[in-house]
Parts: sequence; structure tokens; C-alpha cells
Amino acid sequence: MNKIPDSNIKTEILIHDLKVPISVINAGARSLLDRQDTYGSLTEKQIKVLKRIVRNTLTTQRLVNDVLELGRSREGVMICSWFTVSSLVAGVLVEVFDLTDPNVADRIRKVSTYGQLQEVIAHAGVTLCFEKQIWEASVCLDAAKVRQILRNLVTNAFKHRSACVDIRGVIKNSCLILWVKDDGRGIPRADHQRIFETYFTTGGSIEDAIQSHGLGLAGVMVLLRDMGGEMVLQSDAGHGAEFKVSIPLSREG
Ligand SMILES: Nc1ncnc2c1ncn2[C@@H]1O[C@H](COP(=O)(O)OP(=O)(O)OP(=O)(O)O)[C@@H](O)[C@H]1O
Ligand SMILES: [Mg+2]
Repeated sequence: MNKIPDSNIKTEILIHDLKVPISVINAGARSLLDRQDTYGSLTEKQIKVLKRIVRNTLTTQRLVNDVLELGRSREGVMICSWFTVSSLVAGVLVEVFDLTDPNVADRIRKVSTYGQLQEVIAHAGVTLCFEKQIWEASVCLDAAKVRQILRNLVTNAFKHRSACVDIRGVIKNSCLILWVKDDGRGIPRADHQRIFETYFTTGGSIEDAIQSHGLGLAGVMVLLRDMGGEMVLQSDAGHGAEFKVSIPLSREG
């Protein structure tokens, strides 16, 4: 017997079917940018427009994948594999900078050491705090889900920070523990529960409504629940926000 209501399946199939057209738009814009020798040279303005198209296809691809991952999670599908903490954090930073500062994203793709990465992102106000053995450690987890969790927290921190974002991590009691902290306006205590509800946002303008769906943290909570993890928020209005997530490591591999 099927547990999912029909309308959920229809929505998920519709979202799934967006994958191909989005990829085609992305690939088309990229080839115009990368193959000017074949397709003809572009003006500065045309390059700017095409880059904006590429950035927006990336955002849409991520939204589609996030929704599909939530559907998978709801069905109890966990795809665990071994990956390093460094690849997780660097991968998320690339995804976030791809949309905010693509030059930094390109530089992150090229670095090979923790020190070089720190140097590149320090200019963009991001600090990492990982001990060497944690940074190089391999963990066995559902990579797509963990990436979605960390990306949502880092994206929120970028959106709300004044200047700085700190990302810290340890492995303790068979859990991967990650902290994402910013120095922004913080979250008043009265909203500490409500920010995890679907469609709750604190922004009031139309622009806020376009950028903020109030779905990111609700999705993070679903993924954490399904992985047996938890999240703790520490924040007071005016004093920045710190989100801590603990995710139990899988024993399989
Ligand atoms: N680091 C933060 N500092 C201050 N407020 C935050 C922070 N993170 C989240 N919030 C508040 O919690 C609300 C819900 O966050 P959530 O990530 O669920 O949605 P969103 O960022 O508004 O939209 P999206 O669905 O695109 O993620 C935000 O609108 C914001 O008001
Ligand atoms: Mg968000």
C-alpha cells in the first residue's frame, strides 16, 4: 500500500521533471560563455546576463534537489557513503559562494590545503575552526542530506550576518557536530521555536518574500530527525546567531 497522498507524488514528479529543462538551460548558457570561439564572442553585458542565468539555474537545481531529498528522507531512504569533513565543508562553501561571489567559489575549487582555503575565505569574512585530524577525518553519512543541512545554515548566516561567519566542527561521542555562527541581528527568544516552522520568516518586504521562503530550517529539522540528529540554537536579538547540529555517524559504509 502506498503511504504518500497522490497530490504529494504528483508534486514530487512535477518537481523531478524540472531537472532536465533546468540542466538544458544551464548547459546552453554555459556553452555560450565557454565556447565563444565556436559560438561567437560576447559583449560584457551579454556575459553578465548569461552568468546571471547560470547562477539562477544553480539555485533552482538546488531547490529541486532539496525537495527531492526531503521526499527520499520521508520514505526512509538513507544513502550512506564515506567522505571527508574537508570535502563536505569546502563543497558547501563552493555552493554558497557560487551564488554570492563566484570568483571566491572558483578560487576555493583550486585550493588544496586547509591553510589556503582559510586564506581565500578570510577575505570574504568566513572563518573555519577544525582541528587537523577532524578536517581530514572520513565520516560515513548520507552526504546529500548533510550537505543540505550545512548549506542551509551557512546560507542563512550569509543572509543575516553583519560581516562574519564562523564554521566549526568536531567529532565526539560518534557524532559529527557542526556549528555555524554569524554576527548579525540575531533571533529574539520569542522566535526560537517559530523559525523552525514551515513558511515562518521575519522579513516583511516583497524582496524578503522572494528570497525567504521559510522552508530551509523546517527542511533541516526533517533531515536531522530522520538521521537521528538534533539542532540547538543560541541567539539573542542583536547578538548574532549560532546553530549547532549533531549528526550520529553511521556504522555502515
Ligand atoms: N542566522 C540567522 N540570523 C537571523 N535570523 C535567522 C537566521 N537563520 C534563520 N533566521 C530566521 O529564521 C527564518 C527561517 O529561516 P529559513 O532558513 O527556514 O527560511 P528562509 O531563510 O527565510 O528561506 P529559505 O526557505 O530560502 O531558507 C528566516 O526568515 C529568518 O527570519
Ligand atoms: Mg534559509
